[in-house]
Amino acid sequence: MSLTLAWIVVLLTCLSCLGVMPKTLEIKYCVSFWGKNITCYWDLLPEMDSPITYTLQVTEEAGRCQRDFGLLKNCVADPGEHWCGVPVENLFAFYKIKLTAQNQQLRDDSSEKCLRGMSIVKLSPPVLNVVAPQSRCLQLQWNLPGDELISATEAQYEIRHCDLVESSCLQVNFTALENAPLSANICGLFPFTNYSMQVRAKYLQSSAFQSDGDPFWSDWSLETFARTLPAVPSRGPAFWRKLGSPTADKERAVVLMWKPLKPKDANGEILGYSLRSQRKGELTVPACITSHHLKCRLLLPAGEEFTFYLTARNTVGISPPTRLVIPAFRNAEVPPSPLSILVSSAGDHSLLLQWSLPSNPKMDFVLEWNKLPEKEVGDPHWQYQSEHVNRTVIRKPLSLGIFMP
Ligand SMILES: *[C@@H]1O[C@H](CO)[C@@H](O)[C@H](O)[C@H]1NC(C)=O
Ligand SMILES: *[C@@H]1O[C@H](CO)[C@@H](O)[C@H](O)[C@H]1NC(C)=O
Ligand SMILES: *[C@@H]1O[C@H](CO)[C@@H](O)[C@H](O)[C@H]1NC(C)=O
Ligand SMILES: *[C@@H]1O[C@H](CO)[C@@H](O)[C@H](O)[C@H]1NC(C)=O
Repeated sequence: MSLTLAWIVVLLTCLSCLGVMPKTLEIKYCVSFWGKNITCYWDLLPEMDSPITYTLQVTEEAGRCQRDFGLLKNCVADPGEHWCGVPVENLFAFYKIKLTAQNQQLRDDSSEKCLRGMSIVKLSPPVLNVVAPQSRCLQLQWNLPGDELISATEAQYEIRHCDLVESSCLQVNFTALENAPLSANICGLFPFTNYSMQVRAKYLQSSAFQSDGDPFWSDWSLETFARTLPAVPSRGPAFWRKLGSPTADKERAVVLMWKPLKPKDANGEILGYSLRSQRKGELTVPACITSHHLKCRLLLPAGEEFTFYLTARNTVGISPPTRLVIPAFRNAEVPPSPLSILVSSAGDHSLLLQWSLPSNPKMDFVLEWNKLPEKEVGDPHWQYQSEHVNRTVIRKPLSLGIFMP
């Protein structure tokens, strides 16, 4: 007697410590593909000595599974697979669905499901067109292929748009209106940017026909690419200068240099730049027009202050100007940089610069660096730093200065 008890205890302990729980066979979910089939999925039972065959049985019903209407249809899952499907025609009917697992030792039946075809439908992906590009919006139109729904309002929609350069995507919901085409305006986009657009649909089932399960989202439509139209450049180019020493004639060479606009600021293809100069108290006059050159050399009276305005032009218009003041030459030392910079190596060809941000928060600064010892050879390297940044990495640097424009 006590021996039998001991055996039972050992058996129970072993089962729980191995985590082997008796598992019941269950259909996890079923999907109906419009005009094609009902496919169901389940979890496989633990492996046993002889292979298990899974058979799905699907019967079309009259009413809400009150009595069988069609013939029973079977499918047998491929070995090791956890799904199979049978062809069905009428998704507006209810279906009685059951799964059986069988091998030489065991036969297990799942509980029966009663599902209406449309309650678990996965519509075919819509067919999408981009019909009206603007600079910040794209207008989309789409259709559900074939005759899957009587009205487009029987489905809800999701639109996904991705900026291909940033590889960032956004998704928006869309509800169709009665008697209106399936059309949406997606706005808040960047001009002159290539987007990929996709849309998907999900049947909205009426609550009168609720059954087990929910409709599924269709696959996304094929990617449709479209580029927004260009717009006026949103800002002028970053702008800096190199000052020569005054000659005996009290003139000095000035090189004005600028950087190409980033695509998100250029908003189109940049066709050229225009630089205008202004003597103190006078009107602006053209100083230099270039198509692709990013600098301009001028000879200016050293004793006068000049203000320069630089704009970039694309097919749509002209950017707001960037302004740079060149004060009259004074025979004084350049004031020391207002910031103290900490420089450390960041690899063989780069330096890491760090500085503490000035207490006045509204201040942009320019970082300028030159190759030594020939400071005069070549133009300096430079970059603008925005007010919140306190570190940067520069390449092939040798001498450094910080200026405030
Ligand atoms: C059911 O139809 C879908 C859509 O055509 C297809 O991808 C799937 O393979 C079909 N399933 C079966 C079991 O035939
Ligand atoms: C879209 O709808 C889903 C529910 O269907 C909701 O969870 C989601 O927040 C909605 N998204 C937006 C951007 O409104
Ligand atoms: C947008 O990007 C896609 C994918 O890279 C490319 O096939 C398509 O030609 C691009 N379209 C435009 C208008 O640049
Ligand atoms: C730069 O800013 C970070 C936080 O924004 C701060 O932790 C760090 O000490 C700053 N570096 C210097 C050199 O001030």
